Amino acid sequence: MTFPVRYPKIDYSNVPAHWARNIAFAQDRNATSLIPTPIEPWLIRILQSAVEKLPPGDTKLKDEVAAFIGQESQHFRQHRLFNKALVAQGYPELAEFEKRLADDLARFERTRSLKFLLAYADGFESLGAVAGALWFEHSDAFLEGADPNATALWKWHMAEEFEHRSVCFDFYHALYGRGIWNAIVNGYFYRVYGFVFAMRHLNGYMKRMRDYMLDIDRQSMSEDEKAQLERDIKEYEALHKRHTLPQLLKNFLPWYNPARKKTPRGLIEYLKRFEAGGDMVRSITSGGPAEAARPEPA
Ligand SMILES: [Fe+2]
Ligand SMILES: [Fe+2]
Repeated sequence: MTFPVRYPKIDYSNVPAHWARNIAFAQDRNATSLIPTPIEPWLIRILQSAVEKLPPGDTKLKDEVAAFIGQESQHFRQHRLFNKALVAQGYPELAEFEKRLADDLARFERTRSLKFLLAYADGFESLGAVAGALWFEHSDAFLEGADPNATALWKWHMAEEFEHRSVCFDFYHALYGRGIWNAIVNGYFYRVYGFVFAMRHLNGYMKRMRDYMLDIDRQSMSEDEKAQLERDIKEYEALHKRHTLPQLLKNFLPWYNPARKKTPRGLIEYLKRFEAGGDMVRSITSGGPAEAARPEPA
């Protein structure tokens, strides 16, 4: 199975930073939006440079890698547009955080093994694999009255992340997890190491960016608004504890495989809105599919 590249029609020009009633939820997602812009082009480069290492018989996986690259190419482009609108609303240091993350990733690329890079990539991708259920099954109360453009960016992106959730996992295992010894040492222990490393690294950035934005927000808030923000933080953290953490902990199971995750309710139907005949499709006059397939610059 491969995955189509979809070109969403979303307008970020009027999306406020506080695009959901729960400000902590909105700012946490906004902080997370700064992650794909450095990491997804990096991921594309890593996979493009390593794809020829796959055994010649792995044509299915090679096709999936090509489709994965097509989807990721659209994700980070959409997040760039969203982030630009967000930074302009009074959060200039976000661009600095983003640059620091890009520098970290470039350093890993220069100094770490391909095995590490792919284990890290699989760790990052496992975030998307759990986010599908969060967005489609557990976030309705947070999305009530939310800005439809910000909601569309996240639901489209996380639905496609769910769709291609196995590609990095399969790629890593095809290169490093074949045979009983490799399945134990690399397929389990080193995979878990990559996952923990990626989570600590990326969660650190997300938390620092979220705290930075909320500190700015507090400067113009009344005491009542600050108290409401504290309640928002508690409500959002409860959602995270209930629906994200337990799913992420499944990565520690020796038999973990993202392919076995149940498709979240309504996800397939939602993606159809971004396909031919759907109401969320951007018309491509030039450069669309070709642009998606274009290799990322090093
Ligand atoms: Fe993505
Ligand atoms: Fe992805």
